[in-house]
Amino acid sequence: MQAVVYKGPKEVAIEDVEEPEIEHPNDVVIDITTSCICGSDLHMYEGRTAAEAGIVFGHENMGVVTEVGDAVSTLAVGDRVVAPFNVACGFCENCENGYTGFCTNVNPGFAGGAYGYVAMGPYKGGQAEKLRIPYADFNALKLPEGDQHEDAFALLADIFPTGWHGTELANLQPGDSVAIFGAGPVGLMAAYSAKIKGAAEIYVVDRVPSRLELAEQHCDATGINFEEGDPVDQITQQHGGEVDKGVDAVGYQAIDPDTDPGSDAYDPARENPAVVLNQLVQVVRPTGQLGIPGLYVPSDPGAPDEMAAQGRLGIDFGKLFEKGQKLGTGQCNVKQYNRQLRDLIIEGRADPSWVVSHRVSLEEAPEMYEKFDNREEGVTKVLLEP
Ligand SMILES: NC(=O)c1ccc[n+]([C@@H]2O[C@H](COP(=O)([O-])OP(=O)(O)OC[C@H]3O[C@@H](n4cnc5c(N)ncnc54)[C@H](O)[C@@H]3O)[C@@H](O)[C@H]2O)c1
Ligand SMILES: [Zn+2]
Ligand SMILES: [Zn+2]
Repeated sequence: MQAVVYKGPKEVAIEDVEEPEIEHPNDVVIDITTSCICGSDLHMYEGRTAAEAGIVFGHENMGVVTEVGDAVSTLAVGDRVVAPFNVACGFCENCENGYTGFCTNVNPGFAGGAYGYVAMGPYKGGQAEKLRIPYADFNALKLPEGDQHEDAFALLADIFPTGWHGTELANLQPGDSVAIFGAGPVGLMAAYSAKIKGAAEIYVVDRVPSRLELAEQHCDATGINFEEGDPVDQITQQHGGEVDKGVDAVGYQAIDPDTDPGSDAYDPARENPAVVLNQLVQVVRPTGQLGIPGLYVPSDPGAPDEMAAQGRLGIDFGKLFEKGQKLGTGQCNVKQYNRQLRDLIIEGRADPSWVVSHRVSLEEAPEMYEKFDNREEGVTKVLLEP
């Protein structure tokens, strides 16, 4: 079958790979109907992880069951399902407590497994024609038959739950004001979740105008362009002070937004891995809370300095302490939210499909990886259809 294979920094190719099979009685195999490209794939694509050539990418997967292992009891051939990007067993201590992003059984020696991702276990990605889903009764979420809401349901594999998770980590409550850094797919879904939860004011920071426009249009947010001035100043001026909650949907590859006269000329290729965390500490009020779904890594082969290469960042911890702020981090436990978010979509109370900008064939993946990686105007979320 055809699949998207990582070849090396900034290069993926469509190659013929082996078809998945039932390896364990708890597995199912699905025919992929939609698989998405994610900002998390870009860290591997850019050579900013330990990913080696040969990985089949794709952790945001949905499709139709074609083979069912003997021990699977709730799924049948023909069922339409979406799989959380996390691979989880369902019965380890973390899974029992709902922390399926930190399953201790699926990736020995590590807490957490995922499809098509470096260090996340042996699970092949779904940017392909077929996918094996392990512990399928637990990991496959059933969807209504047919092809209704295909785009919206595909987002249940990661970014809708992950955006929601960002607001949960920040303990966002109705009536809160919130600053969300990053208007990529995850930041936009965090803003949409904040709207659904009844946030009073939503500020979304980025530099890509088309992404900020989506935040304004679909989330009733105020777009803040960090190239037009310090985002903390812009938010505190418009809001009249610090906000209640903050979300980091950027992660360690944050662009250094420093445009101060006297500092080095601003260059969007220059990174500052701690800048968003520190701006959140500044912009959130004392005793407020920060949700950090943006990815940080313990080792970064392309880091701007030696400390960052080991995942050590210069965080204003003194200021955070002084302000008595709380923070939450980590992979999204997709299963905590995907069933409820599915039902919001089915009942017409949520439709996150506005974030999807492209649905293309698998063959177009190399071109779309390049465009999405360049954060080209209008390239927001790309879905692949084999
Ligand atoms: N925790 C999880 O489970 C989880 C799941 C999915 C994605 N992620 C992570 O979330 C992050 C965002 O993913 P995405 O798919 O939205 O990708 P993305 O890379 O398209 O989005 C990041 C956005 O941040 C903007 N940005 C860069 N520097 C900035 C700065 N200094 N201030 C404000 N905005 C800035 C970029 O212009 C871009 O639009 C990534 O780090 C990804 O790995 C985490
Ligand atoms: Zn993803
Ligand atoms: Zn587990």
